[in-house]
Amino acid sequence: SQTNSVYESIGGHDTIQKLVHAFYSKVKNHPELQPIFPDDLTETARKQTQFLTQLFGGPPLYNEEHGHPRLRMRHLPFEITPIRRDAWLFCMKHALDEVNIMEPYRSFIFERLTKTAHHMVNTAENKK
Ligand code: HEM
Repeated sequence: SQTNSVYESIGGHDTIQKLVHAFYSKVKNHPELQPIFPDDLTETARKQTQFLTQLFGGPPLYNEEHGHPRLRMRHLPFEITPIRRDAWLFCMKHALDEVNIMEPYRSFIFERLTKTAHHMVNTAENKK
């Protein structure tokens, strides 16, 4: 077909895996994020790889194993403040740079994830 998905255009599974690995290396070392994530990020990274694969037009790996993402609901156990949202996006921006995802895909991906990240905020800053 002439219309490839973003997933295919950026290099498929290999690229998503590199992106997720780069991202969680940063999350692990971020003072705002480290406290809410498990010490071992293997399973988190595996799920995120499945999720991003399907979000950007690859096979529906996340849904096949876990059902409908209901992401906002799945994040409710964690206090996601605007500061943590920005930290998450900061890590993702740097991961996209590190893996060297080219334009226009880099901006497309970041904008899509920015929208989702804003939706995930469930705690006001002053509650922290
Ligand atoms: C899981 C934090 C945004 C996708 C998680 C977990 C935390 C977390 C603490 C649980 C990790 C675990 O127990 O393994 C955050 C924070 C965000 C954020 C602070 C800031 C806004 C996002 C966004 C996406 C996303 C934007 C989608 C692109 C996921 C997925 C999981 C997850 C797919 C695994 C869900 C499952 O257990 O099946 N997140 N997240 N998160 N997050 Fe986020």
